[in-house]
Amino acid sequence: MPMSIFESAIMRKLSLFTFVLCVWISVKKTTHLNHFSLSSSSSLSSETSWILQDILLDSEDFEDDEAPARSLEYDFYRETCPEAEKIIRDKVHQLFKIKAAVAPALLRLAFHDCFIEGCDASVLLDPVEGMDSEKDSPPNESLKGFDAIDIIKSELEEVCPGVVSCADILVLAAREAVLLTGGPFYPLNTGRRDSTASFSDSATNDLPSPNADLSETLASFSSRGFDERETVSLLGAHSIGQIHCKFFQNRLYSFGGTDEPDPTFDSEFLNRMRSKCSKSHSSTSTAPSPSFDGSPLPTAQSPSFYSSLSSEAATSASFEKLLSSSPKDQGMAVSYEGTGADFGTVYYRSLLQGKGILYADQQLMAGEETGLWVRAYASDASLYQRDFAIAMMKLSKLHVLTAPRGQIRKNCSKVA
Ligand SMILES: *[C@@H]1O[C@H](CO)[C@@H](O)[C@H](O)[C@H]1NC(C)=O
Ligand SMILES: *[C@@H]1O[C@H](CO)[C@@H](O)[C@H](O)[C@H]1NC(C)=O
Repeated sequence: MPMSIFESAIMRKLSLFTFVLCVWISVKKTTHLNHFSLSSSSSLSSETSWILQDILLDSEDFEDDEAPARSLEYDFYRETCPEAEKIIRDKVHQLFKIKAAVAPALLRLAFHDCFIEGCDASVLLDPVEGMDSEKDSPPNESLKGFDAIDIIKSELEEVCPGVVSCADILVLAAREAVLLTGGPFYPLNTGRRDSTASFSDSATNDLPSPNADLSETLASFSSRGFDERETVSLLGAHSIGQIHCKFFQNRLYSFGGTDEPDPTFDSEFLNRMRSKCSKSHSSTSTAPSPSFDGSPLPTAQSPSFYSSLSSEAATSASFEKLLSSSPKDQGMAVSYEGTGADFGTVYYRSLLQGKGILYADQQLMAGEETGLWVRAYASDASLYQRDFAIAMMKLSKLHVLTAPRGQIRKNCSKVA
């Protein structure tokens, strides 16, 4: 039965109200959990309206050549699959208990998806005849978490088949991962749809590289609409997970084509890093040496920034495999110390000390404005958490597909 205009207006008002309430609660919750320095209720409400403003301005892009696409909505699945967000939350929690490395894996996967042609689950597609896959582009190196997404999707397909998009699963699962590792909660609208194509070339060329100069990193993020402050805050995601040796090996032994380490390292830090990553694992550009974890080494193309974070999560669609997969990879933990660790702050403090593990991370100190934000975040965890939350909300709605475009995949690895 079609809803009257009046009814649908009421519905919209109601859902906006619920949304406002949810944002307010989430701000309150963050305030409480993370010692936000919001002492008076007036500053709380200004905080709330600031975030709201950001959300309400979030009317989706209209493309001129087709019928206007729908907007993302708060709790899009409230009627079609009311349990969806809870199922995703519960599954991520379950997987995280088994293997905490699933958290950085999911966060990185969402970043890879949204950064390349928008949050449309294109990163999940397997290659088929006539279509290369983003999965097969060199920056996919060490991308994990596909199987965690499959586990979540299977559960959702049982409860409400053909309803919840893989693209929504990706961003919602990443949000849970952030929360579980001590990061902020942020509200997300839903209603994304899945792409019918994968964008391997774009993944190869457009993802920011761990060896990038500051100007390259900034250009890459800016091409996706992120300013310097947002770029610095997004890179704080590097505070969880491990970084594979191969992504910074050159800084330890043969920096910039010399036989010397990066001269900016102090000797204690250099020794610590060398003890984690021996020279024999060096992946110099001369020969394709075998990788220590059995996966192909990056080719001439740089692996992406986020893919450089190691995670041992989800290499098979079964929980058992998940349980038994053992980390045999070498790397450096950034600052992740488990739930409740200071999400972000340690990362920025280490940059202040010149101890950024990746060249591109440390480069943030080379710019006036980026350096300013590194200092600000190093000393103010609540400012960082707030900025990261806003940046993740922005990332999560980059070029989304909404009805009538796109589709709902049944299997996240294949076009339906
Ligand atoms: C990444 O791409 C390589 C080929 O470049 C492929 O062999 C590998 O299986 C891909 N990894 C994933 C996780 O899909
Ligand atoms: C999804 O499709 C892929 C590739 O076509 C297949 O290997 C996989 O088993 C499917 N997954 C499920 C859960 O059916």
